[in-house]
Amino acid sequence: MIAALLRRRRVLAGPLAVVAVAVVVGSVLFMAGGAAHGQTGQSLLVSTNSSDILAGQTLYDTHCESCHGYEGKGGVTSAPALVSVGAAAADFYLTTGRMPLNNPANQALRHHPYFDRTQIRQLDAYIAALPGITGDGPPGPAIPTVAPLCSSPSGSGGSGGSGNRSGSGSGCVTLSEGESGFALNCAECHQAAGSGGMLSKGNVIPTLRNANITQVAEAMRVGPKPMPVFGPKEISNKEMSAIAHYVEYLHQPASPGGLRISGFGPIAEGFVGIVFGFGILLFAVRMIGTRG
Ligand code: HEC
Ligand code: HEC
Repeated sequence: MIAALLRRRRVLAGPLAVVAVAVVVGSVLFMAGGAAHGQTGQSLLVSTNSSDILAGQTLYDTHCESCHGYEGKGGVTSAPALVSVGAAAADFYLTTGRMPLNNPANQALRHHPYFDRTQIRQLDAYIAALPGITGDGPPGPAIPTVAPLCSSPSGSGGSGGSGNRSGSGSGCVTLSEGESGFALNCAECHQAAGSGGMLSKGNVIPTLRNANITQVAEAMRVGPKPMPVFGPKEISNKEMSAIAHYVEYLHQPASPGGLRISGFGPIAEGFVGIVFGFGILLFAVRMIGTRG
């Protein structure tokens, strides 16, 4: 029927094109949201296999040495030494596509990862092995393991007194622990909903929507500058795990109302609303106009 209308009135082509574009934009937004949610955080132990370390060294020499120096000792450019940064930093900077950097003067921001999973494992292995290879520097933080979420929201094990919101016991963590840890340590920069913002000197505070659970835990231990490092003294492994789960939960909180459009937030939702709304309005106006 639409096709027939189209043949009779070519004037309809414009509004229809607007609607078609809106549909495409909408589906791309949906798919992007789905892809981000699809990433699951798995904690990969760092390989100590010498062939992995050697393969990592080859990649390092080609892609990283020009900035970070021979065997990660730094001193070539403003880029820091990597001897003691550990697998957590290597994995975080590589899986979030922050490294390799094109221009050392730029803030390292999230990009599509440059390397595949195998190559990242090899580079992680090499960087974790650097203190042993160079003979100086303490080992850096390992890739953190995130404790599981308790099956009951108040924490497992009913023996603890009521009102104890820490959910202590079998090493599992609760979302409410994560919520308070996040409010205390992260929300001042990343906002209560993890949507990010701006810092002084034009530094970007990223949204936490794209980070998987391992990357959130790594970010705390690594502190990608200008974010501070949260070591085990400031945030225990348990609290780190709870915060990481809470950030994952923030990706899909209960919808406060309206159509969620993959939770892209009010701007994207408003945008789609405007495009669809105007498309339909234009269509209606054209129909009325050409009949009159
Ligand atoms: C163009 C120069 C450049 C190249 C190439 C480069 N980096 Fe970097 N890298 C930097 C700079 C500058 C920083 C500091 C940026 C920051 O802290 O945001 C950095 C930071 C890092 C950090 C964080 C260090 C810390 O103190 O926590 C890691 C890990 C890292 N790079 C790994 C790599 C790896 C692995 C490669 C190769 C795949 C690589 N980089 C390639 C310039 C470079
Ligand atoms: C002082 C402000 C500040 C605080 C506090 C802070 N962050 Fe950040 N965070 C940043 C900035 C700035 C970046 C971007 C760093 C970069 O560009 O490499 C960042 C990056 C991140 C990333 C990487 C996001 C991505 O998509 O790659 C994660 C995850 C993260 N922060 C989690 C946390 C958590 C969890 C806490 C609380 C424990 C926290 N941050 C506290 C400023 C902060």
